[in-house]
Amino acid sequence: MSGLPKRVQVVEVGPRDGLQNEQAPVSVAQRIALCNALSHAGFTAIEAGSFVSPRWVPQMADTDQVLTGISRRPGTRYPVLVPNLAGFEAALAAGAEEVAVFAAASEPFSQKNINCSIAQSLERFAPVLQAAQQEGVRVRGYVSCVLGCPYQGQVAPDQVAAVAAQLLAMGCYEISLGDTIGRGTPGQARQLWEVVGRRVPRDQLAGHFHDTYGQALANVYASLLEGIAVFDSAVAGLGGCPYAQGATGNLATEDLLYLLEGLGIDTGVSLELAVQAGAWISAVLGRPNGAKAGQALGRRQQGALAERPGP
Ligand code: HMG
Ligand code: MG
Repeated sequence: MSGLPKRVQVVEVGPRDGLQNEQAPVSVAQRIALCNALSHAGFTAIEAGSFVSPRWVPQMADTDQVLTGISRRPGTRYPVLVPNLAGFEAALAAGAEEVAVFAAASEPFSQKNINCSIAQSLERFAPVLQAAQQEGVRVRGYVSCVLGCPYQGQVAPDQVAAVAAQLLAMGCYEISLGDTIGRGTPGQARQLWEVVGRRVPRDQLAGHFHDTYGQALANVYASLLEGIAVFDSAVAGLGGCPYAQGATGNLATEDLLYLLEGLGIDTGVSLELAVQAGAWISAVLGRPNGAKAGQALGRRQQGALAERPGP
């Protein structure tokens, strides 16, 4: 098929965006085991956690222990979220080589999520970007609520483009646009890339779709047609944002990989091993696996094991 990228970078955000919203306690050892299972599956970008206030997001406490505990696979990046310089310094001390700052396209969401206005958040990120440059740390930028806000409703694509362009100008190497509440549809997604693409090169943009309304995979396909080739997703469709009520999990990685494999698009990730990682973390959390392809392929893998002749 022409017009589609030949290769897609999948950014696995399960250990961060996934686990930050889960109610069941997950130990540091289990968070480390998840990251290791994901790198074993071939993911080369694994968001390992965040250095935010543990009062705000208790699930992400001890991310320093996660970062220092994982078996780093050569060629794999382990970005972590930082909301301010204090978070950046803690991340650096724990050996982070890549961080992500996170802004929003909606004022009320910015206030609820990080307790400041959009402009104040960008002011806070400026020293982070400066320090990161000095330390040789790569910085990714997020913009939330790009296709709707839980507090203000509609968000104008121009507003998304303005925030994304500022993050780029400040030195972020890539801007991930988050449909935080998973409300957007493919037509809106295409319009968004069209507008934002005028200010940020498309090869520096990524799609981050939550699946609240079942549109995430369709939004990815629409984005592929617009030349976007980096997508964030979480195994087993884990997660959501604690400050976006009603928002369910991320796009499930297994479903994304199944779509991309079907289109002949290379990701370098083993779907089979991603399915195993998704099944494992679902069992740890004691909740159903949110990945449809994960469930279907998991059943087939179990069937194949059962049919295998004994030793
Ligand atoms: P604040 O209360 O305005 O900050 O929170 P503060 O500077 O006044 O500090 C308050 C307390 O937090 C102090 O501790 C600080 O030391 C501490 P206390 O004196 O009360 O014991 N603190 C920190 N602790 C650890 N690490 C830090 C840090 N900074 C301050 N870096 C703050 C402001 C940003 C800290 C807070 O609002 C916060 O942590 N928010 C976290 C929000 C969050 O993690 N949201 C989820 C991630 S975003 C997301 O999911 C969307 C995304 O997936 C894309 C999409 O889907 O759209 C990325
Ligand atoms: Mg998210």
